[in-house]
Amino acid sequence: MSKPKLLITRRWPKAVEEAAEKDFDVTLNEKDIPLTIEDMQNALKNYDAISPTVTDVLNSQAFEIQNVRCKILCNYGVGYSHIDLPSAENLGICVTNTPDVLSDCTADIAMTLLLMAARRAGEGERELRANKWIGWRPTHMIGAKVTGKTLGIIGFGRIGQAMASRAHFGFGMKIKIFSRSKVSDDVLSKYNAEQLNSVDNLLKQCDFVSLHCPGGEPNRHLINSSNLSQSKRDLILVNTARGEVVDEVALADALKNKVIRAAGLDVFDGEPKINPVLLLAPNLVMLPHLGSATLETREEMGFRALQNCKAFFKGEVPLDKVA
Ligand code: DGY
Repeated sequence: MSKPKLLITRRWPKAVEEAAEKDFDVTLNEKDIPLTIEDMQNALKNYDAISPTVTDVLNSQAFEIQNVRCKILCNYGVGYSHIDLPSAENLGICVTNTPDVLSDCTADIAMTLLLMAARRAGEGERELRANKWIGWRPTHMIGAKVTGKTLGIIGFGRIGQAMASRAHFGFGMKIKIFSRSKVSDDVLSKYNAEQLNSVDNLLKQCDFVSLHCPGGEPNRHLINSSNLSQSKRDLILVNTARGEVVDEVALADALKNKVIRAAGLDVFDGEPKINPVLLLAPNLVMLPHLGSATLETREEMGFRALQNCKAFFKGEVPLDKVA
């Protein structure tokens, strides 16, 4: 029997590209540049399976085509708000993601940003590189203490809990959370966490807030000028979830006017384009979507996507089916 035709839309670590070739007739995107909507529509007509990523546009327009051959989108990544699930389902296409394997590394990057923003690591490094450091002094570049403070976590899935574990056990932080569904007492008690009833309350009560909820329209601008203006004055905000969760203009404004103290962003609305207002904020640390960027994790993400795809073509329900 011939192998299913699989398109991998971006380059993967070598070990997983090689593993893919054992079970699939693989096409790689040698140039590693994002596909256009037209490329994606052609792929949907010509491949049995596609493994897309966050850089692919799979909105409703991408699925407005006839003669679809694709049967599964085995997404390389846990977030899938770039895929219009109802359109995929209408065409009978199965969609899977890669949870679990990136929780630790994404929480590590959230903690990195939290510490960098609190301790002004970006500013400090820029000062050194600009040859402007005049030496140690008691009032130089004073930051915020992290140990023992209160961390608010929005979205308490696997990554949110990995963040709680680092903050609570590593830094003695008190944990408060917001989640749309009730989190079980067993899970809350692991981190001595308290579940609050709104994002606004969380921003009012916490020194730090870290976002770990899904992106997409339901969570667009969950953090906005209204709740930022009511937040604790020294709030430090961290976003490793999706760019659209934060109103970036409102955030830049809040940073500029010292409504909040600082922020750390790993994700951006419309990335890789960065809203120029963000570049003007000195108390903002930015990373280029590095949450899952370790070799171990990027390999595991690939293996997990392949595992889902293989299960599908064996006639099984893939472990990580989301539609
Ligand atoms: C994810 O897996 O969702 C990461 O953000 C990379 O897309």
